[in-house]
Amino acid sequence: MTHIKAFAPGRVEILGNHTDYNGGVVLSAALQLGITATGRKLENGEIRLSSSGVVHEGKIQRSAGLKKTGEWTDYPLGVAEMLARAGAEAGGFEVSYEASLPTGAGLSSSAALEVATAVFLTRLYPFKISRMDLAKLCRRAENEFVGVNCGLLDQASSVFGKKDHLVYLDCRSESVDAVPFPAHLGLLIINSGVKHALTGGEYNERREQCFEAARCMAVPALRDVSSAQLEATEMPALAKRRARHVVGENERVFQAIEAMRSGHAEALGPLMSASHRSSIENFENSTPELDLLVSLATAQPGCLGARLTGGGFGGAIVALVKIDAAESIRLSVEQDYASQTKHKATGVLCRAGDGALPSED
Ligand code: GLA
Repeated sequence: MTHIKAFAPGRVEILGNHTDYNGGVVLSAALQLGITATGRKLENGEIRLSSSGVVHEGKIQRSAGLKKTGEWTDYPLGVAEMLARAGAEAGGFEVSYEASLPTGAGLSSSAALEVATAVFLTRLYPFKISRMDLAKLCRRAENEFVGVNCGLLDQASSVFGKKDHLVYLDCRSESVDAVPFPAHLGLLIINSGVKHALTGGEYNERREQCFEAARCMAVPALRDVSSAQLEATEMPALAKRRARHVVGENERVFQAIEAMRSGHAEALGPLMSASHRSSIENFENSTPELDLLVSLATAQPGCLGARLTGGGFGGAIVALVKIDAAESIRLSVEQDYASQTKHKATGVLCRAGDGALPSED
């Protein structure tokens, strides 16, 4: 029987922290690391999922909908369930996953798992769906099935990534643009070794605080507000600080896009460092380990700026580096971090890679 393969990458968020669920803008890149799903149809209607020896088997009970188990398999099961709800043929299948991406590092292994599953299933049981609708279906699986209220950033980056380009996502218009990323720069991702879990309550709490700030300003979302308007409005101090981060992030993304389009991609560095400072002061989603990594990295020659990437509260940082300095920055940061903490940092130099469904143009 024919085997089908689908690859979906993880992503690194470069600027636009916590803007996606506020109708805002984000700059990200798909990684060359991700998850590959390989499998085939099962005629008896069963679903069998496995990953590096961890196996999950179950008979599909379509009438009752698929059941959540609280394990990693909820991500692919959620996608299968959302596809069935969208009207796709819901037959049985067997799939095994292989990851070249660390989990819990804030690089969206969960979105890679969802997107790889969605692409695999829509190839196995052909189903016509646009790339954006596929990304949204994967987010729905995470929101409604897994129960994590994430925005569209991770899934859209995993679908739309383009080699040697950054992904510019506008979450209000749900449009994506690919912005060329110069060859002399690289993205050094350094994992703090302290696990990041979005299932914690902090993410949803921050979300609520952002929504509260938008309500205080009587706008549909923080996207509709400038920093000057925010500062001129009275609201509870905590909500204002949270909003200051999000509104500032949108503005930094616009500045970054302008800089890149006029050939000054290095200007992203200081914007990324400003983003990290705002995470510390306003959004409080950093950790001492992430702060240490950022300060160790930015002290190195050839590092243009650095910040936490993704939800925060653990995970990894991303540093914008000159390619020829990347290796020495990585080694120094890993060494200094080991001597100052009891954790082990692991750095990897990444180039922007293709998404699961890169455009032909
Ligand atoms: C996580 C979420 C994304 C986004 C980022 C923060 O990665 O999954 O939707 O909100 O945090 O920017």
